[in-house]
Amino acid sequence: MKEKPSILITGASGGFGREFARQLEDTGCHLLLHGRDRPRLQMTLECLLHPERHRYLRADLSTATGVESLLYQLEPEEKLVGLVNNAGLGAWGPFERRQIVSHMDVLQTDLVATVHLTHALLPQLIKNKGFIINVSSLAGETPLPYMSTYAAAKAGLTYWSEALRVELKGSVNVVTLAPGPSPTGFRDISGMPRDKGGIFRTSSRDIVQASLKTLKRGGGYCVPGLRHRMLYLLQKVIPRRLALIMIGRHLRH
Ligand SMILES: NC(=O)c1ccc[n+]([C@@H]2O[C@H](COP(=O)([O-])OP(=O)(O)OC[C@H]3O[C@@H](n4cnc5c(N)ncnc54)[C@H](OP(=O)(O)O)[C@@H]3O)[C@@H](O)[C@H]2O)c1
Repeated sequence: MKEKPSILITGASGGFGREFARQLEDTGCHLLLHGRDRPRLQMTLECLLHPERHRYLRADLSTATGVESLLYQLEPEEKLVGLVNNAGLGAWGPFERRQIVSHMDVLQTDLVATVHLTHALLPQLIKNKGFIINVSSLAGETPLPYMSTYAAAKAGLTYWSEALRVELKGSVNVVTLAPGPSPTGFRDISGMPRDKGGIFRTSSRDIVQASLKTLKRGGGYCVPGLRHRMLYLLQKVIPRRLALIMIGRHLRH
């Protein structure tokens, strides 16, 4: 059986995931493009130089069964050398006005599924001296009124990813990517008005490029681009009490 070095990218049916696929294609690896939406996954395949070398896998990561089904679809000849944990969504609006199911979907998809998937795939990644990119968010640095479960999930993801980075030093390179706003499908899916976070927007291309640069340096915490670094700096210098008032005003209707 001829082994194929492979990279699994979750949430590859659009946004950052599609951009990761574009930028990781020249590694020569077989790309495993995960998502739920078949036509959009097909579009990702078609925007690659050699679509015939890659394939897509469908699974809903908001349930443990969905994670198991994704793991089940990996084939024995696929030698996993990279995992990009990118799938995610937010739930915008007052906490009590959204169905609990949408909040649970955020926590399950953004945090629980990532931990589950990584735990299952880590033995292979260690054996192959591979890498992990965890797509977190600057939302993980500050509590966000009207996006409370999203900020909670991303804070959890950042803490877990950063701790894992230290544990895996020397065997698996880990990048914790913490972008701010970017024009992808994220706002529509999360139900968030498009005008939120406007001045800090940075393109998917620059965000993904920055994370791959961090990976080349052996991993790290990556806040991509000047605008997002400015936002990060503001998060660090503005007292939380004041930040909560400002963010609450900005994010509510
Ligand atoms: N855009 C931003 O402003 C921003 C900023 C910071 C961090 N992020 C993070 O970046 C990551 C990618 O988001 P994006 O901006 O590229 O948004 P996007 O265009 O909406 O893409 C989200 C991806 O996640 C997948 N996904 C969502 N829920 C899923 C579920 N239950 N099961 C399986 N897959 C699911 C989607 O798959 P299907 O469409 O096929 O269902 C899609 O491929 C997310 O983790 C997000 O939190 C985004």
